[in-house]
Formats: sequence, C-alpha cells, structure tokens
Amino acid sequence: MRTVFDPADLSTGRFYRLLTATIVPRPIAWVSTVSADGVANVAPYSFFTVASTSPPVVQFTSVGRKDSLRNIEETGEFVINVASVPLMDQVNASSAAFSHDVDEFAAVGLRSEPSERVRPPRVARSPASIECVLHRVIEVGDCFVVMGDVLAITVRTDVLAGDGAPDFGLLAPASRLGRAEWGLTPQVREIERPAL
Ligand SMILES: Cc1cc2nc3c(=O)[nH]c(=O)nc-3n(C[C@H](O)[C@H](O)[C@H](O)COP(=O)(O)O)c2cc1C
Repeated sequence: MRTVFDPADLSTGRFYRLLTATIVPRPIAWVSTVSADGVANVAPYSFFTVASTSPPVVQFTSVGRKDSLRNIEETGEFVINVASVPLMDQVNASSAAFSHDVDEFAAVGLRSEPSERVRPPRVARSPASIECVLHRVIEVGDCFVVMGDVLAITVRTDVLAGDGAPDFGLLAPASRLGRAEWGLTPQVREIERPAL
C-alpha cells in the first residue's frame, strides 16, 4: 500500500513538507555574501548540489528573493561554507530573518576571515569553503537557482585525508532533514563501483 500525494490536491506548504521530508538528507550550503554596501551576510541553504564538474559549478536554491540572492546579484560573488556538526547552532541562528543592513556574522557571534579569491569572507571555523563567482540565476517556479563557478575550494589541512580530499568523519557535515530535524554525521560503508 502507498499513499499518493498529488501537488494539485495539496497546499504549497503541505507539499513543501512532503518534499523536504522525502528528499533527505540534504547537505547544507552555508552561504556567505556581502552587500554592495559591504555588509556581510551568512545563511544556510539545503537545496544545494553540484551543477557541473568541468568546469566546476555548484548551485543552491533560494525559495523566493532573500538577502543572499540580492547580495550575489549586487556583487557577483559568494562563498559556500561547510556547515559542520559543531557549528549547527550557529548555522541555525544564521537562518533568522535579519534585516538587510545587519552584519549576520556579528549577529550570531561568528568569526569571519578573508577568502582567497572573492570579497565575501568565509566562516573561520568551517572546515571547508567553496569560493564562487556567479554563473547565472535561473528562475524556477517560486524559486531562484543560483549557480556559481568555483574559483577555489579551501580545506582546513587537519581534515584532509592522505589522498588529498576531505575525510568525511573529520569534515563532519551536518545535514537537513524534514520538519525541524537535522542529521548528524552518518556511518560510512565503502562499496567499489562495479567494473563492466
Ligand atoms: C538548515 C537550513 C536550511 C535551509 N535551506 C534553505 C533553502 O535551501 N532555501 C531557502 O530559500 N531557505 C532555506 N532556509 C531558510 C533560510 O536560511 C532563511 O530564509 C534565511 O533567513 C535566509 O537568509 P538571507 O535572507 O540572509 O539570505 C534554510 C534554513 C535552515 C535552518
């Protein structure tokens, strides 16, 4: 037996709850930006993934027009910081609807540090950050898909494994589930891809 949910029969809010409790776990892009006036902003976005590998392009989705999107449209730059488990409370705090002129790093007690290639600062305690310039914004329904060309990924050296990529356990990314639920670092099992 299955229950069938048709978006035509449900309110937007009800279907949103279904989508976000079904498509889980979602990694969290902790997006830092600056406004044209230089005010820093940081906010979490869990509708986040890779758009292209070569050239490397990443994307996140703004449901409606929010300050992060506005800043990116103004400056053409953003940074996606990994939202790690030890930082979860500050990630959540940064999702409050602060007014546009509030420095959200200061508002949530978060230390920033300069990025390597772009003006928006990165979250100092985040284990890895992806520095982007705006590729394009695509409007889809009530959302805006923001794509960024990756200029650099910076990884704290202590979370790098021997192969030069982040170790999952040390990176310890938090994830977003449905409702008010968050995922902690899950267990890992290695499986090799089948050879033809
Ligand atoms: C873990 C988490 C994930 C979120 N993911 C999204 C998302 O994918 N898209 C979105 O529009 N809002 C998302 N939100 C809500 C935004 O963070 C919130 O609206 C925030 O105020 C936006 O900040 P800004 O206006 O400074 O950009 C999320 C909130 C949390 C706590």
